[in-house]
Amino acid sequence: MPEPTRTIRVALPARQYDTVIGNGILSTCGERIASLNIGERCAVISDSNVAPLYSDSLCDSLRSCGISPNPVNVDAGEASKSMACAEKICRRMIADGHDRHSFIIALGGGVVGDLAGFVAAIFYRGIPFVQVPTTIVAQVDSSVGGKTGVNTPEGKNLIGCFHQPRLVLADTATLQSLPEREFNEGFAEVIKHAAIRDAEMLDDIMAIDGRKALTSMIARNVAIKARIVEEDEKEITGTRAHLNYGHTIGHAIEAASGYGKLLHGEAISLGLIAAGHLSCSAAGLPSAQAERIRFALEKFGLPTSLSPQMDTGMLMKLMKTDKKFNNGRIRFVVVPELGRAELRNDITESDISKAIRSLH
Ligand code: NAD
Ligand code: GLY
Repeated sequence: MPEPTRTIRVALPARQYDTVIGNGILSTCGERIASLNIGERCAVISDSNVAPLYSDSLCDSLRSCGISPNPVNVDAGEASKSMACAEKICRRMIADGHDRHSFIIALGGGVVGDLAGFVAAIFYRGIPFVQVPTTIVAQVDSSVGGKTGVNTPEGKNLIGCFHQPRLVLADTATLQSLPEREFNEGFAEVIKHAAIRDAEMLDDIMAIDGRKALTSMIARNVAIKARIVEEDEKEITGTRAHLNYGHTIGHAIEAASGYGKLLHGEAISLGLIAAGHLSCSAAGLPSAQAERIRFALEKFGLPTSLSPQMDTGMLMKLMKTDKKFNNGRIRFVVVPELGRAELRNDITESDISKAIRSLH
């Protein structure tokens, strides 16, 4: 029996929106988006891998509902998440006659979602946008919660803003065309969700068999993310910071490796191993529980050790430009037991450098 389509509502003080997750829902995008009444013209921002696969079907569905789509494609890959690319898209949209009455659809993975969301936040001081995520990372994490932005050589996501989508449409059928490596990397964020909020999900993760029946797993992860974002939309109280588990070291590894060499999820996998090491030494996580995380990452072929060329000193330097540093002190997320996260500000540079060395 096909899995039923699921809807998870994200209820925020300023607005609420739905994340709809289902197999084959791309062809229903037109009617779902038209019912939002956010405009009759839109830029469909996608990348060079995703657009040839899904842009026509999305644009046909939009046209059949009276919306005029203008496809705008960028090169696939993390390098496109840049200020230069954001500016290029804005200028192209102006040249194509878009204005504050237009809206944007982000069709692709987390790179397209973060970039297109950022453009939506700054174009004519902000226009509506819809996320149509096509990777695991984007469906379980990046499309929900309104964090948008671009990278600079100094670090990941240092420039950006909060701009919530009006709707998220996650068609799980699009996951079938993901290359193996890109499919697997997405599970780093799923395993992170298990580590911080849902230890029981680890058993279900270990039972995943190929690409079948992913709707309920994606919905379970969207619900975790949605509840956290509802609690702390702008990452003020610290709850949303729990989602950064594994990311402080992971982002530094991603930046140090040169954006695009290691996939985002692969860098986060290494960050999760290092954060697990630190959680054992500084927060009492039993080592058997840290091992369960390692086994789950290994199931998806994700890296758990770092090449010796990746120098600990260089990673420490990169980490200091990370947004999680506050007045020279790091805010570091640890997991004292699987399924529960804690934000700590007493983790020292020496603790972190030991955790990085444990990866070598
Ligand atoms: P990605 O967007 O680069 O996609 C990975 C690759 O898969 C790309 O080559 C893409 O072209 C291709 N692809 C995408 N969908 C496809 C499909 N259905 N079929 C075939 N190929 C497809 O990477 P990602 O892992 O989705 O996202 C990583 C980005 O997300 C990072 O920049 C990260 O910082 C960001 N992120 C943001 C948040 C947030 O809250 N905003 C959360 C997590 C990650
Ligand atoms: N992915 C981290 C966050 O959305 O806060």
